Amino acid sequence: MIKIAPSILSADFANLERDIHKIADADYVHVDVMDGRFVPNISIGIPVVRDIRRVTDLPLDVHLMIQEPVRYVEQFCDAGADLVSIHVESDMPENIQSAIHKIHAKGKKAGIVLKPKTPAECALPYLSQVELILVMTVEPGFGGQKFMADMMPKVRTLRQWIDRDNPGCELEVDGGVAPDTCRQCIDAGANVLVAGSAVYQAQDIPARIRQLRG
Ligand code: DX5
Ligand code: ZN
Repeated sequence: MIKIAPSILSADFANLERDIHKIADADYVHVDVMDGRFVPNISIGIPVVRDIRRVTDLPLDVHLMIQEPVRYVEQFCDAGADLVSIHVESDMPENIQSAIHKIHAKGKKAGIVLKPKTPAECALPYLSQVELILVMTVEPGFGGQKFMADMMPKVRTLRQWIDRDNPGCELEVDGGVAPDTCRQCIDAGANVLVAGSAVYQAQDIPARIRQLRG
């Protein structure tokens, strides 16, 4: 069963509760956190996660696009994140490892994220420890970008490794996922699809979520 994680980056932040209720049929709320350093954009942070937690029972899938996330992962867990994902490019390996431990010590799920230019091999040191691997299908930082179909071989490779070494691990894709690109992601082995603009620009959001499930 394919899961859909709408990104609230494409929601109306002045009407966030309303826009979160519009995605009640989804599987996760995907929360994009940007610090203006790891990516050239600034979005939302810990207080917003805490307030979202109060208005939905959906699991919160928090995607940290921040430098040295080990500094903040515990605060995101305490704010109500169910799953906290960190970029492998965002710090030294020992700090990535430490961040994963801190997330687990809080009783939450940990994910690692690969930017488009980061090879699948960079996930290997963490593959057996994490609950999710996220393959970016755009350069992180902005919603509404064009889907990078050339990431599909990386998704296929990771699907093979996950099935072999950690079959419970989820494989997520993020960026440019829409009705015309979701099938490729599913065929390559992704089981969680993030979609921002494709969900929030739809006239009928529940129908769009059904459509993205493939
Ligand atoms: C990009 C974010 C994505 C983004 C996806 O840096 O991580 O989650 O919101 O938006 P769409 O689906 O519009 O590409
Ligand atoms: Zn994201």
